[in-house]
Amino acid sequence: MSEELWTEVDRYIEDLLVGNDPALTAVLETSKAAGLPDIAVSPAQGKLLNVLAYSTLARRILELGTLGGYSTIWMARALPDGGKLISLEADARHAEVARGNIADAGLADKVDIWIGQAADLLPKVAAANHGPFDLSFIDADKASIPEYLDWAIRMSRAGALIVVDNVVRHGDLIDASSERPDVKGVRRMHEMLSADDRVSATSIQTVGVKGYDGLTLVAVR
Ligand code: SAH
Ligand code: DHB
Ligand code: MG
Repeated sequence: MSEELWTEVDRYIEDLLVGNDPALTAVLETSKAAGLPDIAVSPAQGKLLNVLAYSTLARRILELGTLGGYSTIWMARALPDGGKLISLEADARHAEVARGNIADAGLADKVDIWIGQAADLLPKVAAANHGPFDLSFIDADKASIPEYLDWAIRMSRAGALIVVDNVVRHGDLIDASSERPDVKGVRRMHEMLSADDRVSATSIQTVGVKGYDGLTLVAVR
């Protein structure tokens, strides 16, 4: 099993199920031109977020880590009229690129990007009563995932879904001796989830154009 094969299978899935959305292709192009890192979710994963937004009947969506707005647009496309997505982004330049992309996609009225450290903004999101959220996507810095997840759980409605990206990290998840902040973050998240009866959760390993990683899916009871 090779990364080459995973990529070919992802292309097959993209051809038949993801389709070619010019606004989303443009996001990746403008993000690359602006020098943003190539770390958006894959097209098939973006479509998964869109599927999950539809299936949760999401009207309020919370995202941590906007980058150029690729995952943002996939989720916001599933919002009904009057729906809202709030995305938190620490890097003002990323937010600027994302705002342009989101406006070009015709979604400016549905998406608010808040600039700042997610840990500083989350209490403000909670205090401003923008929730409860139907769907949350946690995809900012990996070291703070446990804290972000706790906020997301507390701001979710019963039956809401929380998706956490990059939780397997080429299998480094099971390296108990790792000193890497991202590995420590995803390990601590799993330990926290194992003892949290507010939720039902599992993690799914993923392969594809973005290599080997994984997603945690958390249903709020
Ligand atoms: N969700 C995007 C990818 C996000 S990449 C997509 O799939 O299209 C991670 C983003 O999180 C980067 O833009 C980075 O600037 C941002 N980030 C990193 N640390 C952060 C923090 N502490 N608070 C908020 N955003 C942060
Ligand atoms: C990184 C961040 C991401 O959100 C991702 O999907 C892949 C990599 C990173 O910071 O390396
Ligand atoms: Mg990610």
